[in-house]
Amino acid sequence: MKKILNIREVRQLPKNSDFNVMGIVSKLTRRKDRNDNPFWEMTISDSSGDLEGKVWAASTWRNTQGGDNFPIDPDNCGLKFEGSTVEIIGKIAEYREQIQYNFNDIYYLDQNENPPHLFVRHSPVKNDFLEDTFINLIAEISHEELRNFVEAVFFKHGLWEKFKTWPAAISLHHAYTGGLLEHSVSVALGAKDLAKHYKDFAIPVNMDLIIAGALLHDIGKLEAYSISPVPQMTLPGNVIEHITLGYCKFMKLAEVEKLDEKITLALGHIMVSHHGRREFGSPVLPETPEAMIVNAADDLDFRLSYWKLQIEALNNQSDVTDYLPLIERRLWRGINL
Ligand SMILES: [Fe+2]
Ligand SMILES: [Fe+2]
Repeated sequence: MKKILNIREVRQLPKNSDFNVMGIVSKLTRRKDRNDNPFWEMTISDSSGDLEGKVWAASTWRNTQGGDNFPIDPDNCGLKFEGSTVEIIGKIAEYREQIQYNFNDIYYLDQNENPPHLFVRHSPVKNDFLEDTFINLIAEISHEELRNFVEAVFFKHGLWEKFKTWPAAISLHHAYTGGLLEHSVSVALGAKDLAKHYKDFAIPVNMDLIIAGALLHDIGKLEAYSISPVPQMTLPGNVIEHITLGYCKFMKLAEVEKLDEKITLALGHIMVSHHGRREFGSPVLPETPEAMIVNAADDLDFRLSYWKLQIEALNNQSDVTDYLPLIERRLWRGINL
């Protein structure tokens, strides 16, 4: 029996290597090839990363629960693969000069012996630091009505319990337990530094709006994603999207808390414009210094964490990633100075 590797170790193997890996199925999509044969695109995840592979029609699927080991038809076996722990035996191939992971044998494991939560990734930043910083940031808001509102959103209306464990995405960036808190705190601290800088350069920036806007900007993700136990997109997430979900939630709470109309407008503008481009889901572009700064901090936080994820997934032999259509470039490891 081959040694079971983690996903990071599999990524370091050269092409033509065989591998044996265990993880949770975070995505499974059924497709058809040119000859109408079914195949699946499967992503498995563990605490070291994600691995996307192809499960071709000739691959075998087996159920090994309760000490059994028998072949199954993934379409008609009554087992839910997404969110469950599997073992994969596969081979690394090359297709059109790109590495391809072929998953040849898929074993559905005993979920009690290999509970999926053991494979879930967590924020690499200390939880206590994130929670304390979040609470201190609210306390820094000097405008009393605004501070009370932000406090009420998270602590009176019960968002906090979910917020502190939620992922900020299902892939790409902060797609793990605690990712939303990590991302929101990072955006708020980054935006605060930018605001301080521009204040010194005679641009009028309201620090209270910056902090409140940054902490609230992604609350729509609470409805757009779920953890089961890997981050998944919900139906509202798919068909409404987190910016609209977040704005609706914010407007409801602003009404309940009787938040001042002008503040509601300024904060609402930061929320709906935070992606900075219409093609990225923002119906309007940032029109105030506060909205521009939150957008810049959000965008940079996404790009840097995406860079980290992609570079960590790189094979030891390469310094540059494949072309990444999402950000219209390759990413480079850079130099060690
Ligand atoms: Fe967002
Ligand atoms: Fe964000």
